[in-house]
Amino acid sequence: MTAAPHSRTGARVDRLPLARFTTLGVGGEAEVWFVSDHAQLAEAMAQPYRILGGGSNLVIADEGVPERVIRLSGPLAERDLMPDPALSDGDQIVTGWVGGGVPLPGLVRALQKLGLGNLEGTVGIPAQVGGAVWMNAGTRYGEMFDGLHTLEIATPDGLRVVAPGELRWGYRDSGIPRGHIVTRVRLKLQRSTPEEVLAKMTLADTARKGQPKMKTPGCAFKNPGGVGAGRLIDEAGLKGARVGNALIAPEHANFIVNLGGATASDVHALLDLIRQRVAVPLELEYELWPGGALGQATSAVTGFSWPVGPE
Ligand code: FAD
Ligand code: EPU
Repeated sequence: MTAAPHSRTGARVDRLPLARFTTLGVGGEAEVWFVSDHAQLAEAMAQPYRILGGGSNLVIADEGVPERVIRLSGPLAERDLMPDPALSDGDQIVTGWVGGGVPLPGLVRALQKLGLGNLEGTVGIPAQVGGAVWMNAGTRYGEMFDGLHTLEIATPDGLRVVAPGELRWGYRDSGIPRGHIVTRVRLKLQRSTPEEVLAKMTLADTARKGQPKMKTPGCAFKNPGGVGAGRLIDEAGLKGARVGNALIAPEHANFIVNLGGATASDVHALLDLIRQRVAVPLELEYELWPGGALGQATSAVTGFSWPVGPE
């Protein structure tokens, strides 16, 4: 076996199928740059790039993407949860740096064991810290920006350190421009007890009991102004609609799942169908790589209770 080549600054560079980095399990090849420090990141960002986190919100084309795909690794995927005495005050703890490449589920578990609250609401989100911050991932029990003190962001013009208050963040939106990379954050946490933190996590976890357990990128559409997109899609009779090997989940209509061997165009076709059938305009939560308009349906849609074609 030959070792993967390294870039000038030492980043490991390998051509890999992106499907293996996504929770949907779909996506063709790209050149993946595993960067573990700022010098490697600067080199990687010198050519057109995309940043890949936990791949839990992505529908990547079967052809892959032409840009290099950056993945944070090494020290940029490590966490220092020690309270910083200079920044902490009483029960308000500010941690050391937590890398953008750190898996969120393990972080949330670790915080529970330490009895540190503020991020309990993000339990069950299979993201990396950087991706979760960029999307401001969350649930009705809390979101990433509840637990941020400082963000370090790599921009094409260099590294910036900002406070959350400097960003215009909101529901599923951090206000950080696309392509700017969340390299590290310091967390702002409330000292509590492991039992109390666990109780809040259990509440948030219970709310997702009805979500499907199959390969999926989570909810397809954002909730439009207080109404559940899932309910709207359900009311349109679309649960169980299938294109190729992609299915609108019978458990929750805002989830598209991969039955095994689904393609990106299968998923695009279902997204198109939802937009055609739901009267309320829906904003996509999934991110489509390489982007652009939704694909054309190339396979037949089957298995849903609404009439296909003109009514
Ligand atoms: P990716 O999917 O890899 O990328 C998503 C976007 O973030 C891309 O634009 C990417 O370029 C960008 N990005 C990734 N890393 C960085 C970085 N370091 N810096 C800057 N940009 C970056 N979401 C919720 O909000 N609430 C939920 O309850 C929830 N439940 C889910 C349940 C399941 C089973 C699944 C599969 C998904 C769920 N999601 C949920 C969706 C998803 O987890 C979130 O959107 C999450 O924020 C995506 O993070 P990621 O690291 O996987 O990013
Ligand atoms: N509903 C239906 N039919 C369905 C699905 C839902 O009628 O097929 C109804 C439910 O009965 C409920 C309402 O819609 O009355 C809301 O449903 P749910 O409680 O499942 O929450 P949601 O709004 O659909 C949101 C987030 C999820 C998050 C859960 C739990 C969005 C788009 N979705 O779902 O986030 O996990 O709350 O807090 O905001 C994600 O963003 O990827 C995601 C999974």
